Amino acid sequence: MFTQTFGGATVEMVIGDITTERVDAIVNAANSRLAGGGGVDGAIHRAGGPAILAACRELGGCPAGDAKATIAGHLPARWVIHAVGPVYNDRRAEECARLLASAYRRSLEVAAELGAASVAFPAISCGVYGYPLEDAARVVWKTLAEELPRRPGIKCVRLVQFSQATYDAYLRAAAPQA
Ligand code: APR
Repeated sequence: MFTQTFGGATVEMVIGDITTERVDAIVNAANSRLAGGGGVDGAIHRAGGPAILAACRELGGCPAGDAKATIAGHLPARWVIHAVGPVYNDRRAEECARLLASAYRRSLEVAAELGAASVAFPAISCGVYGYPLEDAARVVWKTLAEELPRRPGIKCVRLVQFSQATYDAYLRAAAPQA
């Protein structure tokens, strides 16, 4: 496990399956229709059960860069925060970085509104949406460093990576923040 502190919050990075995380809120890498899908979206809906998709259907979708919360069904977490990252396009790299940062920032805002003290994130946009790992990681560390000191109610953030490659890329990108 790799840890870093920002303000009063500890960021823990682990390799694991986010559906097993015993935190207040887990973040889903969703699509703008909140329709479920593959990857971590599929894993969360499979593990959490149909109540999550039923709750998603009440939300009217979610634009890229935004995040909306539902109940967590059978998951150990209390809430699922459905965040929509950008579909990566290297001709619009700056816009993608802005949207990715916004997806993390809005997730933390929603978590704070819910009163969540612990939040787990997957590597949003780093799978199907094709975001280059180290570019995404730099955006994530920068956003956490900026946002966590402003959110004193959030004490623990867990970055739950699904592969060693993702973990290593985020670890390399964390160095400059130290
Ligand atoms: N726990 C943690 N991380 C996971 C898990 C899991 N159980 N399953 C997959 N991941 C990782 C992937 O390995 C990747 O690093 O989540 C990261 C995000 O990948 P995707 O799930 O493909 O999400 P994203 O790239 O944001 O694409 C979103 O994919 O599944 C669809 O409906 C979803 O349309 C949306 C798109």
